[in-house]
Amino acid sequence: MSLSNKHYTDKQILDVELDIFQKQSWILVAHKIELINNNDFVTFDYIQEKIFVKNFNGIIKAYQNICLHRFNTIYEEDFGNRASSCLYHNWTYNKEGKVIASSCRNSFDKEEIEDLKLKEYKVDYCGNFIFIKLNELNSTSLSDYLGDIFSKLEYISNHFGDKIVDYKKEHKGNWKLLVENVLECYHCSSVHVNSFAKLGYGFAKPEKYGFFEGHSWCEFPKMSGLHKNKLIDKILNSRTFECDGYMHFYIYPNAFISSVEGKGFYFGFIIPQTASQTVLRIRYFSPIIEKKLTESEKNIFDFINKSSLDTLELVLNEDKQIIENIQSNLNSLPSNSPMFGLDEFRINNFHNFFSKKLNL
Ligand code: FES
Ligand SMILES: [Fe+2]
Repeated sequence: MSLSNKHYTDKQILDVELDIFQKQSWILVAHKIELINNNDFVTFDYIQEKIFVKNFNGIIKAYQNICLHRFNTIYEEDFGNRASSCLYHNWTYNKEGKVIASSCRNSFDKEEIEDLKLKEYKVDYCGNFIFIKLNELNSTSLSDYLGDIFSKLEYISNHFGDKIVDYKKEHKGNWKLLVENVLECYHCSSVHVNSFAKLGYGFAKPEKYGFFEGHSWCEFPKMSGLHKNKLIDKILNSRTFECDGYMHFYIYPNAFISSVEGKGFYFGFIIPQTASQTVLRIRYFSPIIEKKLTESEKNIFDFINKSSLDTLELVLNEDKQIIENIQSNLNSLPSNSPMFGLDEFRINNFHNFFSKKLNL
């Protein structure tokens, strides 16, 4: 049996799905460049977990983002740089997740405080990508979890430059609609006429792709013969990672990584809220440029990053509109199933994998 429309609207089905993620998955949470300095941190709420990942003097650790005094959130920010202090009464936690005694002003039982420790999550790496395991009983290693996709991801992870945006966008749509939407570029020449199609994408079938379990990657080819800007090319020619097309990874269950020709890197993080609502966290990283840029080249480089961000925002809004249209139509056709053609082969792979997880 395959997924039908009710799998996109039913709360009980979402609960089963989240339970599968919680028990079995490694979750991609950050890139090392976000945690390069002592006290850099990134937070996220995922399923029932509130988590922060932080650089403690060069060691990256992940803990529950809830203070053990009276349960305030330790870090309310999505990212930043400061000590692990809860801002309610300033209890502060060290790299072992333990309360630093001086923050309690001697008004508590010393032994009771010494016993406290934040819940810790296991951290592991694929190159510079940071993953965490939500369930300590899950015995699958990260390299087994990523399988054949590990080395490709590891390679691309070495080419992320500075993070230039990190924000969230609410979608009135089931998380699977966000996944399916990015697994094909069949819609690019129609939905993204003024964005992606202008860059030359959506006209030819992908020839390079691969799968491992729920994960997949694909390189969408670019239409040839498009006008090139010499000034821009002069700078981008010294980027450390170059590919001919639009490279896209889906890391089951929660993350997308993509790059248009290595000109920058998009990092999408899907956070299901309800069966019909999903938050997409959007991060974008500049490419690494090997040569030293002159002042005027720096301006052009800023312009390149700015136009990549403008295009990304346009593409995301165009996709969001379609996702929300679909979600609003699903209740009218509860027992229908969507159809997927040859261009939608990555969606078929995802459905085959995930149907088995759901015992369909
Ligand atoms: S709740 Fe965190 S210090 Fe009081
Ligand atoms: Fe799209």
